[in-house]
Amino acid sequence: MGRRHCSFYLNCAFLFMCSIGWISLPPVNAALKQYQFDIQVKNVSRLCHAKPIVTVNGMFPGPTIYAREGDRVQINVTNYAQYNMSIHWHGLKQYRNGWVDGPAYVTQCPIQTGQSYTYDFNVTGQRGTLWWHAHIFWLRATVYGAIVIMPEQGMAYPFPQPDFEFNLVLGEWWNDDVEEVVKQGNKLGLPPRMSDAHTINGKPGPLFPCSEKHTYAVEVEQGKKYLFRIINAALNDELFFAIAGHNMTVVEVDAVYTKPFSTDAILIAPGQTTNVLVHANKISSRYFMAARPFMDAPLPIDNKTATAILQYKGVPNNVLPSLPNLPAPNDTSFALSYNAKLRSLNSPQFPANVPLKVDRHLFYTIGLGMNPCPTCQNGTRLTASLNNITFIMPQIGLLQAHYFNLTGVFTTDFPDRPPTPFNYTGAPLTANLRTVRSTRPRLSRIAFNSTVELVLQDTNLLSVESHPFHLHGYNFFVVGTGIGNFDPKKDPAKYNLVDPPERNTIGVPTGGWTAIRFRADNPGVWFMHCHLELHTSWGLKTAFVVENGPGPDQTILPPPKDLPSC
Ligand SMILES: *[C@@H]1O[C@H](CO)[C@@H](O)[C@H](O)[C@H]1NC(C)=O
Ligand SMILES: *[C@@H]1O[C@H](CO)[C@@H](O)[C@H](O)[C@H]1NC(C)=O
Ligand SMILES: *[C@@H]1O[C@H](CO)[C@@H](O)[C@H](O)[C@H]1NC(C)=O
Ligand SMILES: *[C@@H]1O[C@H](CO)[C@@H](O)[C@H](O)[C@H]1NC(C)=O
Ligand SMILES: *[C@@H]1O[C@H](CO)[C@@H](O)[C@H](O)[C@H]1NC(C)=O
Ligand SMILES: *[C@@H]1O[C@H](CO)[C@@H](O)[C@H](O)[C@H]1NC(C)=O
Ligand SMILES: *[C@@H]1O[C@H](CO)[C@@H](O)[C@H](O)[C@H]1NC(C)=O
Ligand SMILES: *[C@@H]1O[C@H](CO)[C@@H](O)[C@H](O)[C@H]1NC(C)=O
Ligand SMILES: *[C@@H]1O[C@H](CO)[C@@H](O)[C@H](O)[C@H]1NC(C)=O
Ligand SMILES: *[C@@H]1O[C@H](CO)[C@@H](O)[C@H](O)[C@H]1NC(C)=O
Ligand SMILES: *[C@@H]1O[C@H](CO)[C@@H](O)[C@H](O)[C@H]1NC(C)=O
Ligand SMILES: *[C@@H]1O[C@H](CO)[C@@H](O)[C@H](O)[C@H]1NC(C)=O
Repeated sequence: MGRRHCSFYLNCAFLFMCSIGWISLPPVNAALKQYQFDIQVKNVSRLCHAKPIVTVNGMFPGPTIYAREGDRVQINVTNYAQYNMSIHWHGLKQYRNGWVDGPAYVTQCPIQTGQSYTYDFNVTGQRGTLWWHAHIFWLRATVYGAIVIMPEQGMAYPFPQPDFEFNLVLGEWWNDDVEEVVKQGNKLGLPPRMSDAHTINGKPGPLFPCSEKHTYAVEVEQGKKYLFRIINAALNDELFFAIAGHNMTVVEVDAVYTKPFSTDAILIAPGQTTNVLVHANKISSRYFMAARPFMDAPLPIDNKTATAILQYKGVPNNVLPSLPNLPAPNDTSFALSYNAKLRSLNSPQFPANVPLKVDRHLFYTIGLGMNPCPTCQNGTRLTASLNNITFIMPQIGLLQAHYFNLTGVFTTDFPDRPPTPFNYTGAPLTANLRTVRSTRPRLSRIAFNSTVELVLQDTNLLSVESHPFHLHGYNFFVVGTGIGNFDPKKDPAKYNLVDPPERNTIGVPTGGWTAIRFRADNPGVWFMHCHLELHTSWGLKTAFVVENGPGPDQTILPPPKDLPSC
């Protein structure tokens, strides 16, 4: 830590008290949890700026949803802001109930200004940490919060019971109106400018100028054990996270228990969650917790570091905390070896039901590209594609179109493999960067209860880069991953079909591939996209139409009465 940073911190510590607080769990007995979410623009002060941002109930981050496995949750979202809104409950499977999944124009029309919509769903067969966020434009920059699902009454965690729990929501902050920043980028056909800060629970910490009292802090007691529920809500950055002087034991990812392992840092992609146990058994002092991007592509490195403080009880606020040793921003080998340690718990109680037989093989290439744009600065616009298709958003919800048999909204001819095989991760491809922009969204139709293997292959079209992919409506098993081109003859032999990690978001490595498997037992229209908002907005997305099953309880539920219309 540089001298300048030290004095910076001391200024902050002497002039302002750090906020120290417990997050205590509310009683969780009731089977119906009801929340009111008022979408409001509030003047929130961060860094050097106080500026109006879109919030839920005026809070940043927004309120935590607490539920117990088996609960019914009703969240009435009322939109008082000038923007269209929709909220996604990231990682909740929403069995047969895509109407409440949230992505705008995929499962619903937006909640327009002055309107309300109640997301009504049951939390079934899931427990752990998930999160919610706006799923329209880039509004999730400020509209997000944690979801904590406690195990069923009388069920313990399959790891040592922590004494306390905290949520740590990692985010990204722009000093200007994010929607304006994005508009500016789109006008030029270039990426919008980088964020101004990373944050932990909405606060950047003292390594940023003007952060003043904006440091999140937790107080711990010597000898006690803590569960940290860590969420990456950043728009465009995979993050390393570490706590100075303390190792962490990873026990859960994306609301699925894992085989515990100890690590001095974690890697967490946008959309992912990670629960870690921390034993407060070190010298009583103050320690920084820090988050900084991982970026191993040949792109500019953004190394802005968000910090928060872990403070032992009784230690005065003027003790200078030490910084953790985060992996270098381009530390590929840490990233690969960290991900390789993740394994499903796969116990009799929490088995890993990995599909062993595959009904449908899909191979999707991830590409960046450049399409003509006469009004853009360079005459071109950056785009992104899957199998060379840049996804076009429709004017109405795809799920409505599917359910009500509306014709002309989408087609189901999304190709199972790229149009022309090439050396995907060979030398950078800078010619032929045009992608296909069809007039209607192209989706893939999947038979009910079939087993799907999807290989996501990064390419060197313009540049290799790591892409965190998120599938709605399902968890999947990450059965294999590798660097270079996927080899369908050799690589499947190396799959882990016993205890692979089960999750809803997975980072496809830079210049590599990832194979996932899932059973398509949830009928509906389910979005799949890169969780880097930049790439989603460039078209790196598609959706699966999963057909109804033959049984009465295997069909999409009727839409709720208050479902917004377009
Ligand atoms: C937000 O608050 C700041 C500081 O209190 C003030 O200077 C600014 O005018 C406010 N902005 C709006 C739009 O209310
Ligand atoms: C949702 O909240 C709005 C605004 O308070 C209210 O008008 C509406 O009746 C509520 N909806 C339900 C289903 O309670
Ligand atoms: C949730 O569970 C309740 C009680 O069993 C049931 O009435 C309701 O229809 C369920 N809702 C959904 C969306 O499945
Ligand atoms: C953390 O674990 C590593 C090995 O994984 C070990 O070398 C190191 O000493 C541990 N650090 C602490 C503070 O326990
Ligand atoms: C972070 O970026 C700054 C400014 O570009 C640079 O001076 C510093 O060396 C970088 N740190 C690392 C760890 O890359
Ligand atoms: C990572 O970044 C450092 C500092 O910028 C550089 O010296 C090193 O060569 C890079 N490592 C790799 C594998 O690119
Ligand atoms: C677009 O043009 C600007 C200068 O006008 C240049 O700096 C930039 O590299 C160009 N971008 C691309 C993607 O060609
Ligand atoms: C849509 O078409 C299917 C198959 O033809 C039919 O079973 C279903 O009732 C139709 N749905 C609506 C809402 O008309
Ligand atoms: C793909 O490109 C890489 C790097 O240019 C090269 O090493 C490799 O041999 C190529 N593979 C094939 C099958 O052409
Ligand atoms: C993608 O499609 C465009 C338009 O048809 C074509 O020009 C380009 O070569 C294709 N690229 C790849 C990688 O298939
Ligand atoms: C899906 O298929 C599996 C394997 O054939 C079967 O065990 C299961 O009952 C089926 N699920 C449904 C909902 O039909
Ligand atoms: C809000 O959504 C409606 C329905 O899709 C659309 O007609 C309207 O243009 C949208 N408004 C804004 C400001 O995007």
